[in-house]
Amino acid sequence: MRLAIITKTKPTTKLISTSFNKLSLKEIDSIVSIEKDSSEHPWTKKQLSESVANSNNLNYILVLESKIIGYILAIPSIDSADILNIVIHKDFKRKGFGSSLIVETSKELNKKKIKTIFIEVRKSNLSAISFYLSLGFQEISIRKNYYSKNSNQLSIREDGIMMRLEISQLIKK
Ligand SMILES: CC(C)(COP(=O)(O)OP(=O)(O)OC[C@H]1O[C@@H](n2cnc3c(N)ncnc32)[C@H](O)[C@@H]1OP(=O)(O)O)[C@@H](O)C(=O)NCCC(=O)NCCS
Repeated sequence: MRLAIITKTKPTTKLISTSFNKLSLKEIDSIVSIEKDSSEHPWTKKQLSESVANSNNLNYILVLESKIIGYILAIPSIDSADILNIVIHKDFKRKGFGSSLIVETSKELNKKKIKTIFIEVRKSNLSAISFYLSLGFQEISIRKNYYSKNSNQLSIREDGIMMRLEISQLIKK
């Protein structure tokens, strides 16, 4: 599906044409590479492959001029969905692409009568928390010591923040 995204190429804005497509196993190496370059806690190829191979999941990529610049992994259930991960290539952050991926995925979920999206994020991931808040997600609970975090060879734990968004709120925006 072609998308026209108004990117925030500050200080000006411009209309950029991207494609929003289903993610398949043939794109795994590209997303593994985005993950390594652009995420502080990268998923492994095995984790990504298992998620993409699961036909119940809804996984999408955003493509700009034949280059994958981001992707999203979601697990739908009856009337809600969990976003497992969303990553935008480091060279394309803060241009509205992440927001666009969430909006387009929400439209697909809405077609399946899904009303609510949940996301869990590390407490230390302030940029992602700010991103979700900007889209209207609200914090609903804390999972104490949910994530492991390696620091100076010590394995320590950190909290997860559970956030929720009603899709109707986002789509009517
Ligand atoms: C989180 C992420 C997907 C956001 O993607 P993005 O394309 O950069 O986000 P957008 O450009 O759509 O940002 C929309 C708004 O979110 C907020 N935001 C995004 N990144 C932010 C940052 N680093 N610091 C503060 N606010 C931020 C801002 O309000 C921004 O609007 P603005 O640019 O007009 O100020 C991207 O930073 C990323 O890939 N992070 C690494 C992977 C990750 O942590 N994923 C989340 C896993 S739970």
